[in-house]
Amino acid sequence: MAMNKHWWQKTTIYQIYPRSYKDTNEDGIGDLQGIISKLNYIKKLGFETIWISPFFQSPQQDWGYDVSDYLNIAPEYGDLSDVERLIHEVHHRGMHILFDFVLNHTSDQHPWFQESRSSRKSPKRDWYIWRDGQGSRPPNNWKAQTGRTGWNFDPGTDQWYYASFLPFQPDLNYRNSDVKEAMFKIARYWLDRGVDGFRLDIFHCLFKDENFRDNPWSYYLLPQNSMAGFFQDWKYNLNQQETIQFAHDLRTLIDSYTPERMLLGELFGDDDVIRDYLGKHQDGLNLVFSWDLMDLGMKAGHFRDIIRHYETEFPAPYTPVFVLGNHDRKRLVSRLGEKIRLAKLLALYQFTLRGIPITYYGEEIGMSDVYIPGKYGKDPIGKLYKWIPEFVLDYLNLYLNRDRCRTPMQWDENENAGFSKPGVSPWLPIHHNFTRVNVRSEAEDEESLLNIYKDLLFLRRESKAIQEGTIKLIDCPGIEGQLLAFKRQSEQEIVLVLINLSGSDCTFNNKTECKQAVFQIGCHDISSEGDIRINPWSGLILST
Ligand code: GLC
Repeated sequence: MAMNKHWWQKTTIYQIYPRSYKDTNEDGIGDLQGIISKLNYIKKLGFETIWISPFFQSPQQDWGYDVSDYLNIAPEYGDLSDVERLIHEVHHRGMHILFDFVLNHTSDQHPWFQESRSSRKSPKRDWYIWRDGQGSRPPNNWKAQTGRTGWNFDPGTDQWYYASFLPFQPDLNYRNSDVKEAMFKIARYWLDRGVDGFRLDIFHCLFKDENFRDNPWSYYLLPQNSMAGFFQDWKYNLNQQETIQFAHDLRTLIDSYTPERMLLGELFGDDDVIRDYLGKHQDGLNLVFSWDLMDLGMKAGHFRDIIRHYETEFPAPYTPVFVLGNHDRKRLVSRLGEKIRLAKLLALYQFTLRGIPITYYGEEIGMSDVYIPGKYGKDPIGKLYKWIPEFVLDYLNLYLNRDRCRTPMQWDENENAGFSKPGVSPWLPIHHNFTRVNVRSEAEDEESLLNIYKDLLFLRRESKAIQEGTIKLIDCPGIEGQLLAFKRQSEQEIVLVLINLSGSDCTFNNKTECKQAVFQIGCHDISSEGDIRINPWSGLILST
């Protein structure tokens, strides 16, 4: 049985939104020193890699996803020496660190764009995507990912520029080799300073059709896995062959470094496209996000389908990356109707699946969304759509004010939840549940979500079967609708995972060689021989 050997194929990742993690200079905004001060927490919790959302210089119109200087740090977060220290401190603890690389676009305040828009003759004109309109209409019908036209008119030079996200985030033109070279140089700059890899922001948007053909019509209004939406099939502005080639080139670049680095792509597409990005010989992006757990129905059948799907479409050495939340999505516990028990069972599933689990900061203590009305919103998407009534958003399951999932981390029960000093006003409000939902209180409660995370991470680190073993579903005749049962296996060890996703108990006839209970949620008295009774909404891990 061949085992995975690369660190990135068996790690666990913790995502930090730097603005909201820990404020050490009392300005109400998290900072790099704050992250450094919490590395021991992350290490003790058991995560092996951290990914930090962008902290580079930026006018902060999209909170860092609009970079105006990729080589310098936004002053509210710190400076270059803080980043160097952060990398050092992470490595010192035997952990890895990923930066967030926004390749697709810069801020419109980036000197490159300022230069590009200054004149049609500018030497940087071709660094962005400029076209003539069709009379007073945009050059073609392409819609941005945010629903409006992707084209923005520039009266100064009487042309339109393309932006896949928002108008202040103009897309770079990767058909110009100087752009590619400039971005590769930036990648090298950080790789030389020791970063272990990059999370690649909206990577599927990178190249657009060379001939700017109109996208065909589609009957989908709401985006469908980024293949269609807003009544068009995104055939010509997303997932172009050249982007797949670019993925391979970037991989060649990072593979020239030792120790080994990695690329984690944020992209959307069907299974064939994803396999293309990963490469036939595992020579494209190392990993890409899998979104399937985000809207997972809490049914045994759904849980099983996901395992079947990945084992068929992405068998090893493909390594799926499972996320339960991020800085763009409603917080997990809010999606689960505040039911912490369900969050515990999902964590059990996520951490024992074959693949890489990523935890969004605060998920480990069960932080919820904070209701922030659109009109007070700081998120540019929230501001753009603040006119849509809340009930319509709920009905359509649209999440447009991302402030709600980005509120400060809840460290303790003091004023400002230990995020900022008392008296300071944090950049976003803190959830009123912070006196109960916080790291300090949960650390003391053996049954808390935080301690479930800690136990699962510990178990995973100790178990080759969970980290890099095979996965196999086990039939449970008669109780298939209730129980999910699967085995993870390495050369040395077999682990059995049982999750009862129903409101009544069930009995699993254990014919496996796993007899020793090593972890449980809600199953206190387990006789591990023969029949095992599993309580409603409970879970169990047994080992050989
Ligand atoms: C990605 C990021 C999101 C950002 C957007 C534009 O989807 O996750 O936060 O607004 O790209 O960069």
